[in-house]
Amino acid sequence: MTRSDDRQPSNASVIIRLFQTSDQLECQQMIKLFSKELLNQITFAFLSTLSCYVAIATVLVSAAALLWSLWIFVVFAVVFVVVVLYPYFKWRSTVKDWEFSMLKTDFTESNSRRMWVAEWNCRTVGMVRLDQIGPGVAELKNMFVVPRCRGMGISKKMLNELIRHAKRKNLQKIALFTTSIQTSAVQLYKKHGFKVVSKGGSFLVAIQPLQRVDLELDLDLVDVQLHL
Ligand SMILES: CC(C)(COP(=O)(O)OP(=O)(O)OC[C@H]1O[C@@H](n2cnc3c(N)ncnc32)[C@H](O)[C@@H]1OP(=O)(O)O)[C@@H](O)C(=O)NCCC(=O)NCCS
Repeated sequence: MTRSDDRQPSNASVIIRLFQTSDQLECQQMIKLFSKELLNQITFAFLSTLSCYVAIATVLVSAAALLWSLWIFVVFAVVFVVVVLYPYFKWRSTVKDWEFSMLKTDFTESNSRRMWVAEWNCRTVGMVRLDQIGPGVAELKNMFVVPRCRGMGISKKMLNELIRHAKRKNLQKIALFTTSIQTSAVQLYKKHGFKVVSKGGSFLVAIQPLQRVDLELDLDLVDVQLHL
C-alpha cells in the first residue's frame, strides 16, 4: 500500500487476482518492505539469542584465562567471529542479494511462472508466486502481506488460489524454503498441509538463532474440497 488510507481493509473486500504488469512497482515496494523486515528480524534474533551465549562464554573464558592463559581470550575471539558474526553477516548479505535480484525480476507470467496479488481498494497488499522447477514440482516464493493487512486471512486466500492452480496443472509437489524466525509463515504452511523436510543442519547450525527450514506439500494428499 503506497498511498495513505485510513480505512481498515476487511477480508471480504480483498480480491486475489493474477499479477498484471501495472503491479510491478507495488510488488517491488513489497519486496523492499519484506527485505527490511527480514533484516530487522535477523538482527533481533542474533542479538537476543547471542547476547545470552556471549554472557555465558565470557564468564567461562574469563575464569579459564585467570586459571590458565590470556591466549584463551584470543581463541574465544576467533570462535566468536566464526560461530557468531560470520553467519550473521552471511544471512544479511543473502537477504540483500535476494532483494537485489528480486528487484530486477520481471514477474510477468510465463509457462513456468504464475504470480498472484491481493488487491484492496485498488492497491496491491499481498503477493505470492509459483515457479515450476522440475517435472511435477513447483516452488512457492515471495509470500508477503503488507503489515497493515495481516491476520485477515489474505495469505490463506492466496495460498488456496495457488494450490488450486497447482492441482489443475497436475503438479505433485510444492516446495519452499523459509527461516525459523518466520514463525507466522511456518504456521501458515503447516496449516495447509506442508511438512518440514529439513531444518538447520550440523550442530553449529543448530545452535544459531536462525535456521533455514525446507517445507513440502504433497499435492496428492491435499483435500481438494478444502481448497477448491
Ligand atoms: C506470513 C504472512 C504471509 C501471513 O499473512 P496473513 O495474511 O497475515 O496470514 P492469514 O491472516 O491469512 O493467516 C493464515 C495463517 O497463518 C498463520 N499466522 C498468521 N499470522 C500469524 C501470527 N502472527 N502468529 C502465528 N501464526 C500466524 C496462522 O496459521 C493463520 O491461520 P489461523 O488464522 O487460522 O490461525 C505474513 O505475516 C507476512 O507477510 N509475513 C512477512 C513475510 C513472510 O514471512 N513471508 C513468508 C516467506 S516464506
